[in-house]
Amino acid sequence: MEISKVGVVGCGLMGSGIAEIAATSGFDVKVREMTDDFLEAGQKRIRKSMDRAVEKEKLSADDRDAAWKRLSFTTVVEDLDDRDIVIEAIVENLESKNELFGALDVLCGEGTIFASNTSSLTITDMAAATSRADRFVGLHFFNPVPVMKLVEVVRTIATSQTTFDRAFAFAHSLGKVPIAAKDNSGFVVNLLLVPYMLDAIRQLERGVASVSDIDTGMMLGCGYPMGPFTLCDFVGIDTLYKISEIMYDEYREERYAPPPLLKRIVAMGRFGRKSGQGFYDWSGDKPVPMPI
Ligand code: 3HC
Repeated sequence: MEISKVGVVGCGLMGSGIAEIAATSGFDVKVREMTDDFLEAGQKRIRKSMDRAVEKEKLSADDRDAAWKRLSFTTVVEDLDDRDIVIEAIVENLESKNELFGALDVLCGEGTIFASNTSSLTITDMAAATSRADRFVGLHFFNPVPVMKLVEVVRTIATSQTTFDRAFAFAHSLGKVPIAAKDNSGFVVNLLLVPYMLDAIRQLERGVASVSDIDTGMMLGCGYPMGPFTLCDFVGIDTLYKISEIMYDEYREERYAPPPLLKRIVAMGRFGRKSGQGFYDWSGDKPVPMPI
């Protein structure tokens, strides 16, 4: 069965990116958010990113306009009842995700695939709470979604081969490079990336070097596009904290434990670029390291 109608739930940083690339790849996309305000913010984000893609000559103005027409927006979950695939990109909270998938399970047709963009929860914990564990996968995108080429396609022990193949082909059709991952917290990339970011914070706690020198070190010494603290601010300090708590809870290994400094920065409301401050102050032309 071909996928043509895509549902995206959540229009934050990740959901808006997923909706954008699905629309620019030719799919009919319906996006659901909780409130009109969230929906409006998400719409603006998509529009801005599409305009940037036109500016960067990645997309023609005509293709942008056509993609925009393929997008529709709603606050009503029932509007997703005709979708071939629904991709969830809401808050990283199992209860909220299960509540959503429980409602969708009743509304959507037998053939609809459910996918979660979770960064650290297991797909099994969501799939097991529905009546369609065989039609449930993880589709884990990377930020910024329109630019990052990778998608992790995650199968549980219950995912059918047909569902996995459909999801894998779908990721391809979004212009992404899919890799197959088993369902363990953090999949492949976050399993390796999260301890790296947490370790950078631990080294900062130890006084090894300054925020900007550690960032410069990893960029110029290893050729990384961003240093670990810029990346923390980019991913979101609150998001990193949440992911690390979930992964620590799963593995009980120290390398996933949130360092005290991470907790302190979250407590101060410094969530990274999205809130204007994190390890850096982002309010000016250039990021300036904040007091630690
Ligand atoms: N649509 C399409 N393409 C776009 C675009 C858009 N809206 N905006 C920019 N681009 C293209 C540009 O044209 C450019 O392509 P080119 O190299 O072919 O010319 C490329 O994307 C890079 O854009 P810029 O030159 O504007 O930006 P930078 O060179 O400063 O790179 C960055 C920005 C891509 C964010 C880079 O710094 C980077 O790769 N950083 C690391 C990001 C990362 O690690 N992300 C993963 C985070 S972890 C995660 O998401 C998992 C989660 O679960 C936590």
